[in-house]
Amino acid sequence: MSPSRIASALLLALCPLVGHADDTLHATATTLFKPIPERGEDALARTVTPAEIELGHMLFFEPRLSRSHVISCNTCHNVGTGGADNVPASIGHGWQRGPRNSPTVFNAVLNIAQFWDGRAQDLMEQAKGPIAASVEMNNTPERVVATLRSMPAYVEAFAAAYPDDPDPVSFDNVARALEAFEATLVTPNAPFDRYLAGETDALDAREREGLRLFVDAGCAACHNGVNLGGMAYFPFGVVQRPGAEVLPEGDKGRFVVTQTASDEYVFRAAPLRNVALTAPYFHSGEVWELEEAVAIMGSSQLGRELDAGEVGAIAAFLRTLTGEQPRIEHPLLPPSTAATPRPDH
Ligand code: HEM
Ligand code: HEM
Repeated sequence: MSPSRIASALLLALCPLVGHADDTLHATATTLFKPIPERGEDALARTVTPAEIELGHMLFFEPRLSRSHVISCNTCHNVGTGGADNVPASIGHGWQRGPRNSPTVFNAVLNIAQFWDGRAQDLMEQAKGPIAASVEMNNTPERVVATLRSMPAYVEAFAAAYPDDPDPVSFDNVARALEAFEATLVTPNAPFDRYLAGETDALDAREREGLRLFVDAGCAACHNGVNLGGMAYFPFGVVQRPGAEVLPEGDKGRFVVTQTASDEYVFRAAPLRNVALTAPYFHSGEVWELEEAVAIMGSSQLGRELDAGEVGAIAAFLRTLTGEQPRIEHPLLPPSTAATPRPDH
């Protein structure tokens, strides 16, 4: 038999094995991961109305929620760039650089809690943080409410969104409406979601190899569920702490939330949906290449030096997590009135 005939015969003989391995991988994947739902709102514990979502849509793009009138939620969570800002640490009021990288708001409703350290339990609690944070929007609840009350179109929009509330223009309702809008920002139908749904060739051979490595090497122990992460907390540097440029000493993560020594440098396993769109990586935002982030995870979390082929395959798999991006129109915002507090830099 010629060498090429032998090769074809071998390939034919191995085909059932390859098919079997692929079936096993698919079965394992469907137990570890879940597809992104078409409607994020259903993940909330309450029902939201179209009027509430529309109000939240306006508020998300509303720069007058900030003291300077120039920073909106969309500044740091740009819906055109994966729901993040693509800079290492966000720039806020007075060009101040905050301590952390901005995570995407896309699919955030599906995370167990919000922020890198999980300090806000849901999107409503989360939304109040940046408005008041001095390095972000540097505003106060009173000033926000005064600003919104000064514009009749907002007064109407709050009344339509919260018809049973005797005092609809409130800071709580700002947060509630933002939560309703953000919940709609999901990115279904990524190649990986189609794979999970049974379209196994939605991932090519290298991407499937990356998935296999992601599971077998142990990444999926922390990055699992619908968002491949976002559900539990782990030390960054379980096996080997990365250098201070990647893991700055001053940011002790969940320790600040729980005041428990074992929570030093513990962070939420980052959700990996749309990770190809949200560089730079880690809470410090100091790593620009996805391949480098994968290699750091291998050594810091698993004590394993992944070779270039393995890193490349895993990164190729992670790029299949990019879903359909929501197409969000920029809302028309009402004009300020004489009663609107003036911008303050
Ligand atoms: C975190 C929404 C304004 C920078 C988050 C998260 C959400 C969110 C949902 C958590 C995502 C997750 O943990 O997966 C909003 C909303 C805003 C807003 C609704 C408007 C009210 C801003 C602004 C900036 C910013 C203006 C930048 C100046 C950040 C940063 C984090 C974050 C750095 C991570 C902070 C940490 O973990 O300590 N935001 N954001 N956000 N956002 Fe915003
Ligand atoms: C962050 C991938 C293993 C826990 C990340 C990020 C990537 C990634 C790309 C950055 C995401 C971003 O910044 O948006 C991987 C891969 C792994 C792996 C490919 C296997 C080779 C693990 C394991 C654990 C873990 C086993 C838990 C023991 C975390 C945590 C973060 C993170 C806590 C957030 C780190 C921070 O605070 O900056 N992972 N991971 N990862 N991963 Fe992994």
